[in-house]
Amino acid sequence: MSKLLKIAKKTLLKNRRSNYTLPTNNKLYPAQWNWDSAFIALGYSHFNINFALDEINTLLKGQWKDGMIPHILFHNKSTKYFPNHTVWNCGNKIASSGITQPPIIVSILKQILDNNQISISQEKKIRTIVKKLKKYLKWFIKFRDPKKKGLVSILHPWESGYDNSSIWDKPMGKVKIEKNLKYKRGDIKVVNPEQRPLDKDYDRYVTIKNHLKANKYNPIKLYKISKFNVIDVGFNAIFLRALKDLLILLKKYNINPSDLMKYVKKSEIQITKLYDNKKNIFYSYDVKNKIKITVPSITNFFILYADINNRLLNKKIINSLKNYNKGKKFIFSSIKEDHKSFEEKRYWRGPIWINCNWIVYQGLKNKDKLFSNYIKNKTIDLLNKKGFHEYYSCKNGKAMGANNFSWSAALYIDLVLNKN
Ligand code: DGY
Repeated sequence: MSKLLKIAKKTLLKNRRSNYTLPTNNKLYPAQWNWDSAFIALGYSHFNINFALDEINTLLKGQWKDGMIPHILFHNKSTKYFPNHTVWNCGNKIASSGITQPPIIVSILKQILDNNQISISQEKKIRTIVKKLKKYLKWFIKFRDPKKKGLVSILHPWESGYDNSSIWDKPMGKVKIEKNLKYKRGDIKVVNPEQRPLDKDYDRYVTIKNHLKANKYNPIKLYKISKFNVIDVGFNAIFLRALKDLLILLKKYNINPSDLMKYVKKSEIQITKLYDNKKNIFYSYDVKNKIKITVPSITNFFILYADINNRLLNKKIINSLKNYNKGKKFIFSSIKEDHKSFEEKRYWRGPIWINCNWIVYQGLKNKDKLFSNYIKNKTIDLLNKKGFHEYYSCKNGKAMGANNFSWSAALYIDLVLNKN
């Protein structure tokens, strides 16, 4: 095993608490995060399948009765994180946030099962996991697409996982900041504020969160009245891929697929309608304010991960991906460098994120082997040179944000060891 693979493994094990893993060890994120845990489980699956299943099981322990899986589970209540469990004041069995995150856990579970020998006792556990994941995806359809149109909404930028991406600038600009907000950020004490969201972003995150809480996180009501309601192409691509992978898992475990197949077909048609033929871009849609969002973000290319059955469209997408960071030494910037909102250092407004590269790579590898290998090798090179950090400058590869970052380590392990 190479030296860096050993360090990657150590990074995960050091961040591991009892049956779940912190995103980093530097106090920035002292809890369990939904999509972080999915990537982390994939990393573990290469050397300890039980740790991988434990990670997923612990996350599912926090599932709400209606099926939602929160974006944060606060297993440890004595931290300085903001917003902590008292601020959210909700949860089922485990204190949690009141919003969710991209459900990539479904596709990652399938990937883990495809690549590992599973024992009979593990199979039993997995059947239960699959049932819970079915409930999770059905929750999205029921509450985030109440008219069953084929696309789901997010009700807070934090639900996307790409918190301060400029994709949200227009809808966030419409959110009136609540008067007399009183809160203290913990993040900028741990990481250089230049690399974190601005106070004006946090004021709005907190305003939206307070409104969700004031409405008791009631999902039916909040779909209509939330201060933020966006159909994001990247999020929907992950969701559609999750549905497709779930259908395969349901078949394998002999669980009724209900009407999910019908929804997948609808979703595939509707997501394609987010493509603007003339401009050759995918756009997201601000449902609340009825505005199209055309910010060039790497997350729009998650559409490749949805495995849309349309060769011509996929070809066009791949061509525009080839132009996205053309000739650059470091790929992919979270926002296209020539866009006016691009900022080299600020969190999701420019820096390279390893999970984005990984998702795009996964989406591309059955469509353009050569280009996908190029992305994989560039990503591995960056990690070989800089180690496992939260994000990196696309100008010079400089490491930023948190260090000892779990998903960067976990996805490095997968990129290096996964031969499929
Ligand atoms: C944070 O605290 O920055 C997280 O991204 C919110 O989920």
